[in-house]
Amino acid sequence: MHPNDNELMCRVGRGTAMGTAMRRYWTPAMQSSDLPEPGGDPRRVVLLGDAYVAFRGEDGVVGVLDEGCCHRGVSLALGRVEGCGIRCIFHGWKFAPDGELVDAPNVADENFKKRIRAKSYPVREAGGLIWVYLGPAELEPPFPHYPWFDVDPKHRINAYLVEQCNYVQTMEALWDSSHLNFLHQGPLSHGGDSDLEFGKKTQSLLLSSQPRFEAEPTDFGFHYAALRPDGDQEIARIQAFIPPYSEHNPNGDLWMSVVPIDDYNSIYFHVWWDNSREIGIEPYRSEHLQFIGLDDDALRAFGMTYDTINDPQKPYIHNGFKQDRAAMRAGQSFSGFHSFTQEDSAVLMSAGQLKDRSNEHLANSDAGIAMLYRTLLKVARSTERGEDPVGLHANPMQIIGRTAPVPKGGTWRDLVPHKRPAKASVEPGVEMAEASAD
Ligand code: FES
Ligand SMILES: [Fe+2]
Repeated sequence: MHPNDNELMCRVGRGTAMGTAMRRYWTPAMQSSDLPEPGGDPRRVVLLGDAYVAFRGEDGVVGVLDEGCCHRGVSLALGRVEGCGIRCIFHGWKFAPDGELVDAPNVADENFKKRIRAKSYPVREAGGLIWVYLGPAELEPPFPHYPWFDVDPKHRINAYLVEQCNYVQTMEALWDSSHLNFLHQGPLSHGGDSDLEFGKKTQSLLLSSQPRFEAEPTDFGFHYAALRPDGDQEIARIQAFIPPYSEHNPNGDLWMSVVPIDDYNSIYFHVWWDNSREIGIEPYRSEHLQFIGLDDDALRAFGMTYDTINDPQKPYIHNGFKQDRAAMRAGQSFSGFHSFTQEDSAVLMSAGQLKDRSNEHLANSDAGIAMLYRTLLKVARSTERGEDPVGLHANPMQIIGRTAPVPKGGTWRDLVPHKRPAKASVEPGVEMAEASAD
């Protein structure tokens, strides 16, 4: 990939092409559990390079405002949540969730308040997440509805981590089925013994380390299929991408989303749901998260929470990510890392916080990666041309990830029925070292 295309794809700050495109969508910002109580502490959140304050008023309604107070720029994350609004501790200006200045105790003129407003953003809360729209008001799209919005919280697990690298790097692990057999061979090999759905559902990955890969653009984004031989049939693992944030995992019960904090850090949300089983209650919830390495202790030990990401003692490139070489030598661990999450994070961050892709050599096994790059470039370029970005009007209720058998050499497309463009245009900017399968 040419460095200019890499920059176009990766940079998300205000005024960049990708940053402008991403601000056109509803963005997952945090979990509802980050603002657990009405009237509780506000939180600072950085998205696409800009800082905001999020707070839950005493009525339970969440507000998101620019972090800097519109009086003198002080952080409202230091503020006090009072009633339904937030009060700056510097001079006491108080703002409603819609940005209205409701109190300015150091200004005598009552009319003054009518002339000033904090910059506020539309907010929705659904599926255990708080979503925010950061784009131009006149272009606000309908709020998308996902199947797991309708699930009782007891039937759902929400978890997230923060990763010290560009969002595309974090995302890449999702579109690369062949790394699962290799990097994750340790935790995968234990999955079949457990009662955990995730362990069972990923056992088909062990069928072959050289799957057949296909990736195909759709009107909402793309599908990616990895097919592994199983007797006289193949097991197709099919996943879907709705730009710019949403992966519908082939397990069928998992949604993942990577959101840029800025060009060098990202948030990685996970949502599992199960209509028939209360996976969100203990002890299942903790066992599930521990297996994947997403429990709080494991995340904190690896510096993947907001309060540990800058811990100088955390695993990082200069201490070899504290890889357990002794366990590797003793044959107890293939990778030397705790579980899936830490294995992915170590390798992805080891490439640098925003990697240069000009020396990469994509093979056929990277059909998903190439399609991801092309789709993201298309998102940026189409928005620059004044079009609606790809997937903006997608209906996530009609888009699924799925794992199912198909006849050997057969098509997986019937398993995920969807209208497909008659002729897929191939976005320039990505070269394959091997002839591409897509
Ligand atoms: S800086 Fe916030 S009230 Fe003055
Ligand atoms: Fe992975």
